[in-house]
Amino acid sequence: MTKRVAIFISGGGSNMRALVADMTGDHPARPAVVFSNNADAGGIAWAKAQGIATAVVDHRPFGTDRAAFEAAVSAALELHEPDIICLAGFMRKLTAGFTDAWAGRMINIHPSLLPKYKGLNTHARALAAGDSAHGCTVHEVTAALDDGPILGQARLAIAPDDTPDALAARVLVLEHQLYPAVLRRFAAGDTRLLELPR
Ligand code: GRF
Repeated sequence: MTKRVAIFISGGGSNMRALVADMTGDHPARPAVVFSNNADAGGIAWAKAQGIATAVVDHRPFGTDRAAFEAAVSAALELHEPDIICLAGFMRKLTAGFTDAWAGRMINIHPSLLPKYKGLNTHARALAAGDSAHGCTVHEVTAALDDGPILGQARLAIAPDDTPDALAARVLVLEHQLYPAVLRRFAAGDTRLLELPR
């Protein structure tokens, strides 16, 4: 059975586009909906233009009530009957109530070689630490931020003159390779670690 994928974004959604581009032909999944907490997210307009269903729930009216926000997200998703959620630059923390409900069915891409540098500013932190390698990770989502079983990693060498922006741009290219490759396997039930370059 083809899996239905909800992709969560907050911004431009370049990872979302890479996932959508890969979900054709013999891919075991198809995009069901692109969801955002931000109606102005560039990726929402792009998804609409592709004829992909979209849904938006603005988090701001919910204030600090994350559970109420997540209940609204769940209601918005229901119509689209997703089997898998891919977080792709989705910038809201999710509570255990939501992550537990989607355990084993929700994955995220993070721009570091986890378990290093959970949270924000990963590229600057890798540089400040003097690391020689950096990259990105796709992992299953659990209640702890940027935690959960690792499904795939892609790595690159840090150059002596690298800046956070230069590094971010090179890691993003890797993200666009890693995330589709992991989703393709994950949707087929394969959770073995994928390492790029192979
Ligand atoms: C990516 O670096 C992702 O790993 C991070 O946010 C960025 C989102 O980029 N969490 P995009 O919206 O997919 O272009």
